[in-house]
Amino acid sequence: METLPFGQPSIVSRIFRDKRVLRDSYLPPTLPGRESQIEEFEALLSPLHYNEPITHILFVGKTGTGKTAVVKQILARKEAEFKNSFIRFEYINCSRANTAYRVFYKLNRIFGILVPPSGLPFDVLYDRFFEALSRSKIRLVVILDEIDIPSRRGNRLLYSLSRINSELDEETTSLTVVGIANTVNFLDRLDERARSSFNPSVIYFPPYNADELKAILLQRARLGLRDGTWEEGAINYIAAKIARESGDARRAIDVLRMAAEIAEKENSIKLTVDHAKKAIDAVNEQELGLAIRSLPLHHRFVLLAIAKLLASGDERPGTGKIYRSYLTITRMNMAEPLTMRRVSGIINELTSQGLIETKMSYGGAYGNTKVVTSMIVSPKRALKLLGSIALR
Ligand SMILES: Nc1ncnc2c1ncn2[C@@H]1O[C@H](COP(=O)(O)OP(=O)(O)OP(=O)(O)O)[C@@H](O)[C@H]1O
Ligand SMILES: [Mg+2]
Repeated sequence: METLPFGQPSIVSRIFRDKRVLRDSYLPPTLPGRESQIEEFEALLSPLHYNEPITHILFVGKTGTGKTAVVKQILARKEAEFKNSFIRFEYINCSRANTAYRVFYKLNRIFGILVPPSGLPFDVLYDRFFEALSRSKIRLVVILDEIDIPSRRGNRLLYSLSRINSELDEETTSLTVVGIANTVNFLDRLDERARSSFNPSVIYFPPYNADELKAILLQRARLGLRDGTWEEGAINYIAAKIARESGDARRAIDVLRMAAEIAEKENSIKLTVDHAKKAIDAVNEQELGLAIRSLPLHHRFVLLAIAKLLASGDERPGTGKIYRSYLTITRMNMAEPLTMRRVSGIINELTSQGLIETKMSYGGAYGNTKVVTSMIVSPKRALKLLGSIALR
């Protein structure tokens, strides 16, 4: 048995070989299902080998489709290849550097220029960076991960970065933006000026299908779990289920980790389909809990109305019925009700967040209406969760 520094024996896991492999921060040796995106990306980077400038690039795809993983893997490789050259890569996560100012603060630091973290006019930061870059004679590739975030406040960041090239000596110096966005229509949302100066080569990351998720999960299971402690059927189950609902690899890996934890807690010698099922429920419940905490009050009321109707045996409540139940709930909570139209909008938002599923019902007693068919967890569990956090 292993011993911890303080002398007490650690519990050796029966199922896990290395739990870190099942964490989000782990970068696996290969990325199954992303071969074509990697190939495309490398082809777009290849002019750098001849010291030529490259076009701006945009990765787009929903959450958990491997965008950050691909960029990190290729970056590690390229940084080694281009060591001691005039090619330089800079990775910036815009969820932290979430304004144009903060990004230019970081860019200035590449050249050892320290500017105050706030307070200067943006143009001063821009000019200092531009001066330093044009003197440096390097080709700089700036990866802006989660670029959706600063772009919500306007297009200054992208616009100012992507027009720099026209003022540089292209023979020796250039700046390329590799933007990474999980808003699928990111480009359509940019204003005309930013779109035409950015004008990237787009690499699309579709959601993973069941076979791809299976390959991703098998890799994690082989590296992170002990031999003979997991059934392939459990992996197939998770892959099929997640492919149907989102194609999100992060979620699939979370479910696998949770399933292994459940199997371990139950003292089981093997991770089975049954553990996988329980893990999906548990992960969904966590997600609903988190979502509820960040939902505005009336969204919670609408969700509560839906859970109540479904729990009372109404299999597919329509918008009208949900609205009536919502009115009762607002009255009980002494809140001013929103209009039916607004509640209908909230039902759409809850659907796109994946908390409920809806379907159009044609030609029923009320003509064509939208009906709710299910929730992310069982309605009874949802009621319990809403009761414990929602309306306090
Ligand atoms: N093809 C793959 N093979 C192995 N692991 C993968 C693959 N794609 C994604 N993953 C893993 O899934 C998780 C999510 O992937 P990643 O962070 O790259 O998603 P993303 O597209 O950047 O999502 P977001 O838009 O939310 O930032 C990570 O832990 C990553 O290692
Ligand atoms: Mg990412």
